[in-house]
Amino acid sequence: MSENTQDILIKEAAAAAAVSGSLFSTFDIIMLVVLFGAAVWWLYSSRKDNKKDDLLLSKYSIQPAATIEVTENSFITKLQSSGRSLVVFYGSQTGTGEEFAGRLAKEGIRYKLKGMVADPEECDMEELAKLKDIKNSLAVFCMATYGEGDPTDNAMEFFEWLKNGDPDLTGVNYAVFGLGNKTYEHYNAVAIYLDKRLEELGATRVYELGMGDDDANIEDDFITWKDKFWPSVCEKFNIESTGGRRVNKTI
Ligand SMILES: Cc1cc2nc3c(=O)[nH]c(=O)nc-3n(C[C@H](O)[C@H](O)[C@H](O)COP(=O)(O)O)c2cc1C
Repeated sequence: MSENTQDILIKEAAAAAAVSGSLFSTFDIIMLVVLFGAAVWWLYSSRKDNKKDDLLLSKYSIQPAATIEVTENSFITKLQSSGRSLVVFYGSQTGTGEEFAGRLAKEGIRYKLKGMVADPEECDMEELAKLKDIKNSLAVFCMATYGEGDPTDNAMEFFEWLKNGDPDLTGVNYAVFGLGNKTYEHYNAVAIYLDKRLEELGATRVYELGMGDDDANIEDDFITWKDKFWPSVCEKFNIESTGGRRVNKTI
């Protein structure tokens, strides 16, 4: 190839490169604009879809256990679905009754009575009569008294229902521990009333009413009561004591 021919070829290639270079950059710009537009559209529409999904999930997803605790008000369903037979309700304003209820519910496992704590305000208390359908079941009430012998806020509705209603509680096992203070005129009035009313409605008292006095030592009163309460429950439910360990004969 002559030098002349080489020069011509190089010039032609340079010209072609210049032409195609300018074409490619125009094409490139168009592609970038299209791609950018598509990306913006995709981002916008996927955010809209996510919002829709979140809404659906919040309505229909399986809720964690803690949420169920709050929204599910059938304590019977809760007992049955978790294999429990002991429910400890509390009427409490400043937490002592709630704490005692928690301790009793926990201790139940020692006697093959798996327990749970329940706030009457969050339960459908009309279900109390159904408790008898659960084998070896027991409802314990840790109830404080306030004011003129009134129940706590969270137990108010339950008390109205007990006073005004006439449910048949035959076959329901129960025990009551009251929290009060002897310096008040209506000492432990709520617990005294509840213990009597449940019996009137046909329920079975498994152990005598306990009364704690926080003017003296309510913790001691509680311990003294529950140390006798558990043996009484064991006897009632035919649960035998073997050394430190308790075994339920019927299970
Ligand atoms: C304002 C007030 C009113 C109370 N009224 C009574 C009452 O009428 N009768 C009673 O036995 N105890 C009464 N108490 C004592 C409480 O029932 C007692 O402190 C109980 O342990 C509180 O339980 P809680 O912490 O679960 O709410 C009253 C206490 C306060 C602070």
